[in-house]
Amino acid sequence: MQSDVEKVNRELGGRLPKHVGIIMDGNGRWATRRGLPRALGHRAGTERLRGIIRVSSDLGIQALSLYAFSTENWKRPKNEVDALFGLFMEYFTNEVEALHANRVRIRMLGDMEALPGNVRAAVRAAEKKTAKNDGLRLNVALNYGARAEAVRAVRAIAQEAVMGALIPESIDEAALMAHLDTGGLPELDLLIRTGGEQRLSNFLLLQAAYAELVFVDALWPDFSDALYLSTLRDYAQRNRRFGGLKPDGEE
Ligand code: FPP
Repeated sequence: MQSDVEKVNRELGGRLPKHVGIIMDGNGRWATRRGLPRALGHRAGTERLRGIIRVSSDLGIQALSLYAFSTENWKRPKNEVDALFGLFMEYFTNEVEALHANRVRIRMLGDMEALPGNVRAAVRAAEKKTAKNDGLRLNVALNYGARAEAVRAVRAIAQEAVMGALIPESIDEAALMAHLDTGGLPELDLLIRTGGEQRLSNFLLLQAAYAELVFVDALWPDFSDALYLSTLRDYAQRNRRFGGLKPDGEE
């Protein structure tokens, strides 16, 4: 796989995305098709993270944002929510050392206040430990929803206005984007959704304004490093225009 990464790096060089977002869908179906409880699908999904993070990091992708738990996922049966939180605890307890050694910088997207205290403490500790790292920016969306994020941003901006720190006329697109949970990260270039569905499910809606979208049929636990590399090749062939015209001579 290392040689595949080097090959893709040589081949795509400057056409790699700076920031990739992933909606990791399909864990439940992966488990059900094998006659296993859904929680084991989430475990298999968690195990896939290592490879995807390593490939991203080795290729020099600057930021990777993963949708782990949405504001809507609370509606799932309590035993599934508990299983997910158990996995988050395990992940942020056991994997952080290796991520730190690889200079990965962890940041959470979403509202951490509503999380169980032990999970909140574990994710905050992971952020703190890795805060000065200069490698891949790994963003994990937990209790995240794009509309709730927009509300938080608007509230923060309104608060600054009330305090006299800014005037409404000075609020521009850059100010709004800077107040989102992703403030300071590179523009989202590529948004991947596994599991065959073609929707955004309240993930990074404003950030995705100009992102290329790739929908993959593979269920998340089956989204191999090789499939990820082929998705990046697909992205590199897209003609990104950001609302402008195609370059001269192109159809
Ligand atoms: C969607 O699959 C996936 C989730 C709701 C959870 C995503 C979580 C992980 C991959 C695991 C852990 C992440 C971290 C950061 C440790 P689904 O259950 O909706 O699948 P289905 O559509 O087949 O039912």
